[in-house]
Amino acid sequence: MREQDFIPKQFSGNIEKGEVTWKSPSNIALVKYWGKKDNQIPANPSVSFTLKNCKTTTKMEFQQKPEPSATFDFELYFEGKRKEDFKPKIQQFFKRIEQYAPFLKDYKFIIHTENSFPHSSGIASSASGMSALALCVMSLEKELNPEVANNEFFYKKASFLARLGSGSACRSLEGELIEWGEHQNIPESSDLFGIKYPFEIDEVFKSYQDTILLVDKGQKQVSSSVGHNLMHGHPFAEERFAQAHSNLDKLKQIFASGNLEEFIAIVESEALTLHAMMMSSNPYFILMKPNTLQIINKIWEFRESTKTPICFTLDAGANVHLLYPEKHKEEVLEFIKNELVAYCEKGQYICDQVGKGAEKLN
Ligand code: PMV
Repeated sequence: MREQDFIPKQFSGNIEKGEVTWKSPSNIALVKYWGKKDNQIPANPSVSFTLKNCKTTTKMEFQQKPEPSATFDFELYFEGKRKEDFKPKIQQFFKRIEQYAPFLKDYKFIIHTENSFPHSSGIASSASGMSALALCVMSLEKELNPEVANNEFFYKKASFLARLGSGSACRSLEGELIEWGEHQNIPESSDLFGIKYPFEIDEVFKSYQDTILLVDKGQKQVSSSVGHNLMHGHPFAEERFAQAHSNLDKLKQIFASGNLEEFIAIVESEALTLHAMMMSSNPYFILMKPNTLQIINKIWEFRESTKTPICFTLDAGANVHLLYPEKHKEEVLEFIKNELVAYCEKGQYICDQVGKGAEKLN
């Protein structure tokens, strides 16, 4: 599909007012997206686990304006309170998707949004937030545009819109493994939207656990858009992008067989490569904290001494995602309590696991 295929051809429906609510999860990348071209096109393909518990719930009320106007009109509430500082992001999102959702200026919106995870946890809410909002916009479009009756098209376009809000958001709509970005050996893969991972997936990955160790709950030092831009002219960029393609190739056989040793080697290398890119860009930066490294070393010691297949991954921040199969849950939680909690800010961590994607609530 091409970008033009998402521009609606005609509208036959009409709806004066209503509301829709979607609950959409966050995701954690195994092969990382870092670096983008214009229009939120990723510089390399990525793949992620959709999460289950870290979610954003967004209710969008809409009311047709008496006259269409030249502005996007919306009020934004976060956890019940007016939130003016989130408005520019939504404004930018509406602007970016306007040609694909030309009805937006015909309505006034009241948007209520809340996260299932603590606001200042250092967990980026852009993937869950933008995917939930994109789904709300699509539910309105479904009332207006008969083309959207097709469920497959609905999700493709919702992912396409979510991508324009925040790249990784396009991987949050469905479960359990989502691939985004053109790859020559992955049929149907696209730079424009995420797809369900199309090859065999061993059962072990369908209930994989992700315990998020909150090392630093502060605001991100570097926004991801600044980070992505630093891959332009980065001395190692081309090698890195090629590595992501090759890691996706290797994962095909790993996802099918459930070979955890090989899985761990790729996932940890991807996390460290992401941070290595940040450390070697110009300007350079370090988002890991001393406790991030303490936790990584503890994970390696525990894995070595108990042979339990745990591993870590990182986002663009200091928190550590501890990944492991469900059958090891008890012993790993014990290990976290005994050895890792001490390195978490206020002893906090969030237990999550692989999930099936977004849900419509009304
Ligand atoms: O969606 P963005 O632009 O916030 O980028 C997120 C990039 C990483 O989280 C660091 C990696 C990824 O693939 O999710």
